[in-house]
Amino acid sequence: MVKLYLNRSVSYKSKKTFSVIYHNLTGWYYPCKPDFWRYLQTFKGGRELDEKAMTSAVAELVRNKFLIEKKTCPPGDYLGFHPIRAPGTVYYEKDDSTVVAVERKGAHGEIDFDVVLLEGAAAVLWKNCSGRRSLREIFDETLIPECDGLKILAVWTSLESQMIRLISQPVTGIKQPPQQLIYKAPFLPQKTAATPHAEDVHRYHLETIKDGTEQFDRIESTVSHLYRRPHPILDYQSYGQAFLAKLREEKEVESGSRILEVGGGMGSISTDIMAELKKEGTPIEYTIYDLSPSLIRSQQKMHRQKGVQACHILGNGEFLALKDESIDIALSNEVIADFNTPEVKTSEVQDYLFDHEIPMTKEFFNPYKDEDAQEYVRVNLGAFQLLKELMRVLKPGGLAVVTEFGYQDRLPFRASHLDHAEYSIQFSQMISVAAALGFNLYLTDAFDFLGFRSDVNLITAFSYQAAFRIMESLGVYLPNMAYTPEMLEDELGSYYNGFRGLQFVGVNKDPFKVVKFLVCQKPDSIPQDQA
Ligand SMILES: C[S@@+](CC[C@H](N)C(=O)[O-])C[C@H]1O[C@@H](n2cnc3c(N)ncnc32)[C@H](O)[C@@H]1O
Repeated sequence: MVKLYLNRSVSYKSKKTFSVIYHNLTGWYYPCKPDFWRYLQTFKGGRELDEKAMTSAVAELVRNKFLIEKKTCPPGDYLGFHPIRAPGTVYYEKDDSTVVAVERKGAHGEIDFDVVLLEGAAAVLWKNCSGRRSLREIFDETLIPECDGLKILAVWTSLESQMIRLISQPVTGIKQPPQQLIYKAPFLPQKTAATPHAEDVHRYHLETIKDGTEQFDRIESTVSHLYRRPHPILDYQSYGQAFLAKLREEKEVESGSRILEVGGGMGSISTDIMAELKKEGTPIEYTIYDLSPSLIRSQQKMHRQKGVQACHILGNGEFLALKDESIDIALSNEVIADFNTPEVKTSEVQDYLFDHEIPMTKEFFNPYKDEDAQEYVRVNLGAFQLLKELMRVLKPGGLAVVTEFGYQDRLPFRASHLDHAEYSIQFSQMISVAAALGFNLYLTDAFDFLGFRSDVNLITAFSYQAAFRIMESLGVYLPNMAYTPEMLEDELGSYYNGFRGLQFVGVNKDPFKVVKFLVCQKPDSIPQDQA
């Protein structure tokens, strides 16, 4: 028989999908159902357990001091524990201080970080939190008084910061780390800021977007934005340069060609295409259609810096105020998810598209044949309208490349990671509409079309965000890019060597594969029945 008490430092936290018991002095947590928490409450005033009731789960709670054998657990009882920095922690060591990025989950589930400056004893203690040595050993060696050190640790292990965990065994020998050492308990306080016009995507583009760098570095980083500088993953080309090279494999870019870009973003694709063609002496006319006044200003600024020039049209790219058969090449990169994607009764989609004069082949309706078909579905109407417009404005033999995130076998769904309403593209329906319009076409993805390599190590999004916040606290802006270690060292200069915990990993193809490329060629002459 052993008598056990519930430690007063343990609390229960519950969210809709996840509940935990959390130990505020060790930072240790366990997923926990309400009835188990109710069972633990019975230990509040002490409860005797015989050996049978001492399951391995209860023994682990005892080992980690959720249940204790005395009424109270004085701070000194934790001295045998080993402090270890929370998973994925990134920090920066200055001469006698340390800057730590503390993870915070944002309003839309995205990761953000707060920054904490540690000085004096706190900086010394932090450096020693490797999980290899006990607090007793650390306090003995560093001469940090126990009570001061434990006070500092109590802040770091609290649910609000979760910077440090105290583990009962040193890390050496842990083969498969428990989830407490891989994830944080998802209860960090959220900063909720409602985005104006999040649901009205047109007004969002016209009014909410204020600054291109902020938009693409912090809110919606497109693949083209992350690879806007020459990058080893594209054999030292930028995304725009690689895009142009691939366009040219499909269609020659002749002197005097007219190129149209729908949705120009920051302007890096257009800048690179125009600069390449200018360098080799191929004069072209470049037009950008965009709905955001502030992004048009960003495009103009970038063009000015690189000595190139485009014609900018502020307007909705679903309807192009351009003459018939006036464009040689059109591209639209990661834009059409912003286009109109209304919800329509599934049984009425055919009539709805008929009313909007969108042609399609019979394959268009395959996704609705599923037995679990929904009564209402989202329809990528704006994207179909763009295809129709492209068929009209392209010259015979003209080429259009339209890219966006989406699938061939999934109906449009709302992207959850953005601050405005965007819907994925149903690419089998895009193919159906493009084919019915008379395009010769094929579907591929960013990875295959642009020829991304897979043998390059890139910074994780998590590490970049942490490094961004740390550099911001040091007064330096760190642009958002898919950094290799060498690129980050170039960007950070002497700061680079002070960073600890940055992670670089091999290429994950998924984000490149999910960005589909629809390559459409307008025939030299349109068959009579489609004309
Ligand atoms: C996600 S960004 C992509 C920008 C750029 N192509 C890239 O790859 O980074 C979408 C761009 O399309 C523009 N856009 C969104 N909706 C639009 C619409 N209905 N008509 C024209 N442009 C639109 C936005 O202002 C922005 O420039």
